[in-house]
Formats: sequence, C-alpha cells, structure tokens
Amino acid sequence: MCGIIAYSGNENAGDIIINGLQALEYRGYDSAGMTVFTKEKPLTIKTAGRVLQLKEKAVNIAEKSFCGIGHTRWATHGKPSETNAHPHTTELLSVVHNGIIENYSELREKLSKDGYSFTSETDTEVAARLIHHNFRETQNPVEAIIKSTAEFRGSYALCIIFNSVPDHVFAVRKDSPLILGKSKSGHFIASDISAFSDYADTFYRMADGEISEISKSDIKLYTDNGELKEIIWNKNTESDTQMNISSVFKNFMLKEINEEPDAVKRTFLSLTKDSLPCFSDIIPENLLKTVKRIHITACGTAYHAGLTGKYYIEKLSRIPCNVETAGEFRYSDPITDKNDIVIIISQSGETADSLAALRLMKERGIPVISIVNSVGSSIEAESDYTIRTSAGREVSVASTKAFSVQITALLLFACELAVKKNKITEDECRKISAQINKTYSYDIQEVISCSKSIRNAAEVLSESDEVFFIGRSYDSYLATEASLKLKEITYINSQAYPAAELKHGTISLIEQNTPVIAIATNTMFFDKMRSNIEEVRSRGAFIISVCPCDADIIKEVSDISITIPAAEKLVYPFTTAAAIQLLAYYTAEIMGRDIDKPRNLAKSVTVE
Ligand code: AGP
Repeated sequence: MCGIIAYSGNENAGDIIINGLQALEYRGYDSAGMTVFTKEKPLTIKTAGRVLQLKEKAVNIAEKSFCGIGHTRWATHGKPSETNAHPHTTELLSVVHNGIIENYSELREKLSKDGYSFTSETDTEVAARLIHHNFRETQNPVEAIIKSTAEFRGSYALCIIFNSVPDHVFAVRKDSPLILGKSKSGHFIASDISAFSDYADTFYRMADGEISEISKSDIKLYTDNGELKEIIWNKNTESDTQMNISSVFKNFMLKEINEEPDAVKRTFLSLTKDSLPCFSDIIPENLLKTVKRIHITACGTAYHAGLTGKYYIEKLSRIPCNVETAGEFRYSDPITDKNDIVIIISQSGETADSLAALRLMKERGIPVISIVNSVGSSIEAESDYTIRTSAGREVSVASTKAFSVQITALLLFACELAVKKNKITEDECRKISAQINKTYSYDIQEVISCSKSIRNAAEVLSESDEVFFIGRSYDSYLATEASLKLKEITYINSQAYPAAELKHGTISLIEQNTPVIAIATNTMFFDKMRSNIEEVRSRGAFIISVCPCDADIIKEVSDISITIPAAEKLVYPFTTAAAIQLLAYYTAEIMGRDIDKPRNLAKSVTVE
C-alpha cells in the first residue's frame, strides 16, 4: 500500500513528482522520497513523515530536472524512517517499490554472500541490490529486470532509474498496480491515475509481468520475455475534481459523507432505466436466471456492504448468499458449484486479498461480478462482469460514500435477481426504487443536517475507552461497520455484537456508563431490542440509540437517540450509515485525530 510515481518529459520533474505523491498519499504516508536526474548524477532525497516534509527538503534542489521517481510509503518491512524510506539506491540505480518480496530474506542472504551489504530493514533494498547485481552482468536494464523478477516471490510494482540511462525510467509489476500515462508534457508511470490526472488523460494499465520504459520522447512496453508490444491506450473520463477539497469542508471524510446523497443518486441512475434495475448490458440475463448460490467476498467496509447485500439478496430473491472476508475466503478452499457466482466488492479495485479471491474463482470457472468504484482497477480488469459505482474518488482512508454506493448497487442487483426469479414483481421493484429515491433526495441529507444528537453522543464517546455496538439482522451489519469507523479514526476500542449475543459472555464487560450504541431500525425486532437495551442498561450502560424518529419504544430507554427519517426497512442502512459515520467523525474531531490519514492505515491495501 505505497504510492509510486515516475516522470520523464519537458516539465520540472520535482514539481510533478511532489504533486503526484500528494495525490497518492492516501496509499501510505509514513515516509517519502524521490530520485531525479540532474546534470552530474541522479540526486536522491528522502524523509520520514509526510510528502510535505519531502517538498520542504526538495526546495534545496538547485537545478531543474526532467526525469525522476517518487514514493510515499506504508511500512511493511522496517519501521517508518528516513533510512527505510524509498528510493533505495546503489552506485548504479535507484528503486521504488509497492508490494512485498516474500523471499527477501533468502535473497538478502545470497547477496550478502556475494559481498553486498545492506543499510535498511526493507525488502526493497534487497530488490535494488539484486537488480544491481544482474545489471552489472547484463548491462541491459530490461534483461536485468527479467532476471531479477524471475527470482522474486510475492507482489511488486517497481520503478527503476539506471544512472547510466539518463532521463529513462523502467518499471515492472506483479499483483501491485502500475499505470502508464502520456501527454504533451511527458510520460508517466504511477500506482493510480490520480497521480498524473492533472497532466494526462490517456492511460494504460500494465499487466502482470509487463515491463515499461519511459523517456522524454517515448514510451515502450515489453512482454515478460523482453519483446516489444503495442500499447492500447484508454481515455480517463473521470474528472478528478474530487481531489480539490472545497473550502466548505475541513477534510475529505466530511466532504465525502456530504457527497453521499449525490453519490447514491448517480449510482442509482446509472444502474436503472425507468426506475427499474437494468443490469442487462452488464450481466447476461441467463446467468441471473440460472444462479443457485451467491458468494460475496471483500475486505473491511466493503465486506460490511457485502453482509448488507446478503440481507437484500436473500430477503428479495431467496437465493442463498455466503459472505466471507477475502483474506479468509481465498484460503478456505471454498465449496463452489456450477450454478454459483461470486461478487467481489472493492472501492479501490486493488485490494490484494480481494484480487486473489477473484483469481481463485476464475481458476474454478465461477463467473465473477465485481462492484468497484475506482477507474481502471485490476479487479475490474480481471472480472467477467463489472458493476461500476459512481461515488467519484474517495480519498479519505475511512470509507464512507463508497459504502453507500456499494449497498445501492447490491440492493438494485437483489431487486433485478428477484424479478428474474419471479420472487417480486416489477411494480414491487418500482416501490423499492421510490424508497431509494426518497433516501437520496431527502433522508440522508436530513441525517447529515440534523446532527445535534450525533454531536452530543460524540462528546460521550470521546471520553470512553471501550464502546459497544449492537443490532439485529441488517442492523448488526451496520453495527460492525460503525465499530470499524470508530476504531479506525478515533483509535477507541469498540466491539460490535448481534444484540442477542451480548448476554452470552460479553455483557460481563458492561460497567457504569459504558456506552452501548443500539442500532434498531427494524420494527420486527423493536421489542427484542428494547429487552437487550434494558439488559445492559440495568448494568449501568449509557444507551445511545440509532432508530427511526417514530420509534418511541426505543427512544424511551435511550439516554441519547440519534433518529433517522421513517422509511421502508430496506433503505434504513443508507441513513444509518450516514449517522454512524458522522458519529465516528465528530468523535474523532473532538479528539483532534488526523481524520483523513489515521495512524497505521492506508487507503488501498495492496499487500496481504
Ligand atoms: C474502510 O474504512 C477501510 N479503509 C478499509 O476497511 C477498506 O474498506 C478495505 O481496505 C477495503 O478496501 P477496498 O474497498 O478498496 O477493497
């Protein structure tokens, strides 16, 4: 989960690299560095900390440079420090890397025996030394790269400057993304399009094993055995205005929560025709007619969206749906059958475990549908069918609007499937569409605007060491997402439990004033949820409920009630999501946390 950018062209490389790294900082931000070609020899600058600190250091570069590589790091091997920051250099070259070279210890041992020494704790320095070793033998960058990557195990996206080949950058990838970009001002290689979208709108996603070479005047692409191949360019249609935080919002997370009504609306309109779900130009009709079981796999927030999707699919179409985190699914030797399909959900489309789960299903011939939000991702490229959500770029590490558009796509998919399976009529489908319309036209904004009770609850949580979230059915899935949101941006420990489960042990942790957030939106369970609330309340818990504005039975036993507009239960996850996201947000704000870039995290987890 690091960010890489390389450039060769007519503009000042230092500026372009810093600008690109700032766009890529969501991928990791514990140290940064760059190498640029100057008249004498390549100059490398590195720093622990953020790209801004690198920018301050780079001010001292006297002369303009026109080619270079840059890196912003999320530490996998070795602590965040200047020594461990990339680029890693030898007398012959500089390397930046995203991924994990799993056999780096063996390679390090072998290279040490050949007389090489190491200054950092990183796998990347080992990769740099091996490429150095092979380049000394071959005197050919592409051959040296092929020889070296043949010895690597694991994942890598590498950009390499060979000191003896001025103004050229070479790159190779396996399981970690690299995108080529071209424009009048020069040529680019980067982890994702956002790094150069200010300069280039023509891109190519490198495939595993391919090697690229950029210079001021040319871009070359080689196969994994060094033969030249044609580049099929794409146009990037997504505007990156999302990157410019407006003066209205103090950070991306608040901006992106506020974008949820529009994001849900855009996704709804892109996946419906005359208010009916329309997947016919994305997924073959016969696939939906014959499917007998669905597997959903994803990570983190996308996994929680998948759980909500399970509720929708089983409730509406009565097709069994198994949901598992991708990190578990890929190693569980899952039981699959010929009428199964798998749905991979991923905002970035680059999550390593989700991509690996996709590849496992492809090997078994199971049709793969992906739900992705980012443009030109690996998961989209390798899926059989892709449902693209329309949230626009999500920059804040904590995923918010992506969750809302994922459950929009899943609810519409569930409706389409249910109609195909003759479980609901088109009229019933239209009623659900009308509910989604009400949600994005009014309800979500209502939650965002009437946030007083959420702020009051945030004051309570900001003083707490341990918080519990409870719910039943789909509310328990929202409870799990609420717990993740709170943990990742406030660093407060919290747990989510199905409400009925708490009394089977965990209730022993409830003390005087322990905050318990009870998510209760399904009238079917109001009596049961009231009992569960009473159980913890009688042991001193401080009750914060998230419930419909007319749920007096719940509000009566709550110390604070966060109310959401009354609606059909299928759409409550949309407004509940906005409420729990804001609860985490305001708590983190009171605590003075770095909301968009929480400690230890990165936006796109492209390593296992
Ligand atoms: C969510 O707030 C986290 N940032 C994280 O759990 C994220 O949802 C997860 O890494 C999956 O990312 P993806 O959707 O890009 O695959």
